[in-house]
Amino acid sequence: MNTELDKSRQDIHAVRHKGEPARIHALLRDWQPDAAVQNETQRRALGLVKKIREQKSPNLLEAFLAEYGLSTDEGVGMMCLAEALLRVPDSPTIDALIEDKIVPGRWSRHLNHSSSSLVNASTWALLLTGKLLNPDLASGIVDSLRATVKRIGEPAVRVIIGEAMKELGRQFVLGRNITEALDHSGVLKQKGYTFSYDMLGEAARSDADARRYHLAYSEAIAAIAPGCTALSVQQNPGISVKLSALHPRFEHGQRARVMTELLGRVSALAQLARSASMGFNIDAEESERLDLTLDVIEALMDEPALAGWDGFGVVVQAYLLDAEAVIDWLYALARRRQQKIMVRLVKGAYWDTQIKRAQVMGLETYPVFTRKAGTDLSYLVCARKLLDGRDCFYPQFATHNAQTISTIMALAGGPDESFEFQRLHGMGERLHDIVIRDTGGRCRIYAPVGAHRDLLAYLVRRLLENGANSSFVHQIVDEDVSPEDIARDPFDMLAQAKPPALLVHPDRIFGEDRKNSKGFDLSDEGTLARIETARDVSIADAGPLTLRAPSGSASRSPQPPP
Ligand code: FAD
Ligand code: 2OP
Repeated sequence: MNTELDKSRQDIHAVRHKGEPARIHALLRDWQPDAAVQNETQRRALGLVKKIREQKSPNLLEAFLAEYGLSTDEGVGMMCLAEALLRVPDSPTIDALIEDKIVPGRWSRHLNHSSSSLVNASTWALLLTGKLLNPDLASGIVDSLRATVKRIGEPAVRVIIGEAMKELGRQFVLGRNITEALDHSGVLKQKGYTFSYDMLGEAARSDADARRYHLAYSEAIAAIAPGCTALSVQQNPGISVKLSALHPRFEHGQRARVMTELLGRVSALAQLARSASMGFNIDAEESERLDLTLDVIEALMDEPALAGWDGFGVVVQAYLLDAEAVIDWLYALARRRQQKIMVRLVKGAYWDTQIKRAQVMGLETYPVFTRKAGTDLSYLVCARKLLDGRDCFYPQFATHNAQTISTIMALAGGPDESFEFQRLHGMGERLHDIVIRDTGGRCRIYAPVGAHRDLLAYLVRRLLENGANSSFVHQIVDEDVSPEDIARDPFDMLAQAKPPALLVHPDRIFGEDRKNSKGFDLSDEGTLARIETARDVSIADAGPLTLRAPSGSASRSPQPPP
């Protein structure tokens, strides 16, 4: 029993339950921006934004999503299609899906709008497909083009759209297997990047799935190992794993099984990584897996075979209301074990899922910030905490946002070997190329590896991220957003921002007249403890159970209820 660690763990639950207004108040109070640092940061951020735009070479995906973001019906249709096409097995359903998602779009609005000829060509294809499948809309030139496409036939259209979607997916994956990924990493290594490889796959459905993913990770570690030639783990390539891939029931209700079956698998992988001198990172997933993930992290830090190793890494998601408290807990854990932890700080990739889950369950509060500026400022406060805690942490700042990077540079006083930046493969290339070239700072690429069939969930998260008009990667290719707006300080934005009008409290999703039923988050240890306490009181109050005796029997007479 360690009091400091336990207290720190309870603080996580306490902060979580206080809700968003209390967290925003604390962030604004604690982040006292120094005017000189703020000016320097904005100058640097603005410079970066302008430099990226000057390069004028958005990749295919950026150009595509700039045109079809999530703020247009067509964009939403495309995202649904991309997500669904990957898992629809038969041709008639694919045709029906294309008809459903493509036909209602007003594609002609997008014609010749994009700076990318490929995107304009896709718009033509979509326009034609829309017309082709909708006989009521035939007219003029479209009519004759339609006839041409009709000659090609619907199966060809299906293949073309399927290939376009696969092309989008390929953007994010370094290789179909680890050998191919290692081959493809060469050019980027020459630019100064190192890697954390991720074997695609998550949320295993069966033990067979979990074993397959476990094997894939083991083989990947063996394949990456020869490349770990540097003396320090931080300079070597590493591996990132998702715990939900390694056990089909990675959920709180199955804690006992998780702490034996899953722990054994993840510990075996970590030991392999340690012997190869490579970093081993546990990704952060949905917030309902957080408490269990922290249990696994603590147990792994207790393993004698991993003692004293500085290659063990975890992820903190700044969009969680309890992010700062999680960092305090990690610090207490590292100090107790006298072992440095690598901490990757991200904003969080499951925002939409978290919002939806809270609404469906009728939870008391959202577990995440509902304003982007809240997440951005939380990120900076957490970043400062990680930098201040470098006696116990090796911070890894994973972001594609120039304002965020500039603030970290200002906080750290420039790049050095005590921390690194990270980016996802297929995203943030131009920004990080500039940062590496101009500052010589370290940057690691998170590189997914795997077959198309395991890409679905990952791809959807990337499409949501790239398609959201509030995200940096979307705004940088949207010429309607000024560099000054892109580089705005989140502190100023949060101080002025109002809660989003469309996002109501989970208990109000049916409107003012019908309250949502109240739900309890049974993955949250704080909630479970409160239920347990209330149950103990009821049991104590209820007294012994007594049965009404049949008339004439000699049993005890019933007691009045308390
Ligand atoms: P920005 O555009 O500045 O921020 C976008 C983010 O803001 C969104 O992703 C979301 O988190 C947040 N946001 C958007 N709208 C709102 C809103 N209305 N209210 C509150 N917040 C909002 N994510 C994980 O969850 N787990 C991981 O293990 C993980 N590993 C990663 C590893 C690397 C190397 C990188 C680069 C990313 C990783 N991510 C992970 C994904 C990461 O969370 C997203 O890429 C990140 O949120 C994008 O932030 P940004 O600073 O690049 O962009
Ligand atoms: C994700 O899988 C990168 O871990 C992050 O979305």
